Amino acid sequence: MEEGKILVTGGAGYIGSHAVRQLVRAGFQVIVLDNLSTGHIKAVDPQAELVIGDVRNLGLLDSVFTRNKIVGVMQFAGKIIVPESVSHPLSYYDDNFTAVISILRAMHTHNCHNIVFSSTAAVYGTSKEPSITEEAPLHPESPYGFSKLAAERLICDCEKAYGIKHCIFRYFNVAGASEDGSIGEAHPVETHLIPVTVNAALTGREMKIFGNDYQTRDGTNLRDYIHVLDLADAHVLGMKMLLEGKDSAIINLGSDKGYTNKEIVETVGEVTGHPVNWTYGPRRAGDADSIVASNKKAKELLGWAPKRDLRQMIQDDVNWRAKHPTLYGRQGNKIPSEDKKRLLNYTASRHYSSFYEDIENHDRDRLRKLRETNKLN
Ligand SMILES: NC(=O)c1ccc[n+]([C@@H]2O[C@H](COP(=O)([O-])OP(=O)(O)OC[C@H]3O[C@@H](n4cnc5c(N)ncnc54)[C@H](O)[C@@H]3O)[C@@H](O)[C@H]2O)c1
Repeated sequence: MEEGKILVTGGAGYIGSHAVRQLVRAGFQVIVLDNLSTGHIKAVDPQAELVIGDVRNLGLLDSVFTRNKIVGVMQFAGKIIVPESVSHPLSYYDDNFTAVISILRAMHTHNCHNIVFSSTAAVYGTSKEPSITEEAPLHPESPYGFSKLAAERLICDCEKAYGIKHCIFRYFNVAGASEDGSIGEAHPVETHLIPVTVNAALTGREMKIFGNDYQTRDGTNLRDYIHVLDLADAHVLGMKMLLEGKDSAIINLGSDKGYTNKEIVETVGEVTGHPVNWTYGPRRAGDADSIVASNKKAKELLGWAPKRDLRQMIQDDVNWRAKHPTLYGRQGNKIPSEDKKRLLNYTASRHYSSFYEDIENHDRDRLRKLRETNKLN
């Protein structure tokens, strides 16, 4: 395997932090680049280096690539809330598409030829297939889905033009936490069913299941879930596949089976020992009856299949929340003294200017404040 480092953008976020941990365990040297908009310093594995900044900051990317031999990029950085993308399309295209232009530009300039990219089942939109294959028609139904599809398209075009190879993963639903409960899901606004339900079980607060007249076994939506560590393992395999010189691929990551919302709520009640206080709410616009991924291609190309089941996802999420009642806490981005050494002080090289200047200034400001708060020189 090629010597060099893996740059993980968004490595302080939920999925990225688990991927960083599995990369470190697999023996990779990792640099995380994250602007901490939804991520947490405490989530970043202590053995990874950390650069605080924006992926769209081309000058910053230039100095990271100049000072390190980066052999592969994992791009997790992005925004993830579908309804928010409808009200803020500019910011979603900016983070999910412009950021990909920047990273590919830096990769092309610095001869880095391998990217693993986080895409989503939202590129398929509402599919009639009982088990969605990668060849299913692509019909995104939100700016979020379109921004990811546009990024996929650009990545594929960059292979033809510049030889940048890709492993594009389309995720379905992701849940769970690390086995030791040290890192887990901590989105500032939690919209995902499993953490929302676990929170309802632990606090006794009421929650809603939206709609009970869908074409599924109990009338509630049916979705495909995989454990975040299974997802992270697939990313390590995807990166190895590229570094070994194998072909690019677009691959679904799912379990090939689904659970209904009602089954999730009941299972959370069983695992926690606290029955969930829930009622039915009205249908939400745009929710498809059933979404399940075929994972045949992942098995064939990566030898990957999910190892952890639904109860494990719920149990690990519960353990993480029990150990971290305030998740990463209000001081989540205060840098522990033992970590200060690994906060790399990159500034943007100045020859990229104008268009990115706002972002560069923002990054400089954010880094200055962090350094002040943490009394760094
Ligand atoms: N969570 C899911 O169920 C799910 C499902 C499908 C696809 N995805 C994709 O997986 C990726 C990661 O999702 P997540 O759940 O870990 O989200 P997250 O919000 O926890 O992580 C995103 C990380 O990216 C960082 N970030 C965002 N914009 C940035 C920028 N411009 N520059 C630098 N850093 C930036 C954030 O600070 C955060 O640490 C996203 O691209 C998302 O679209 C997630």
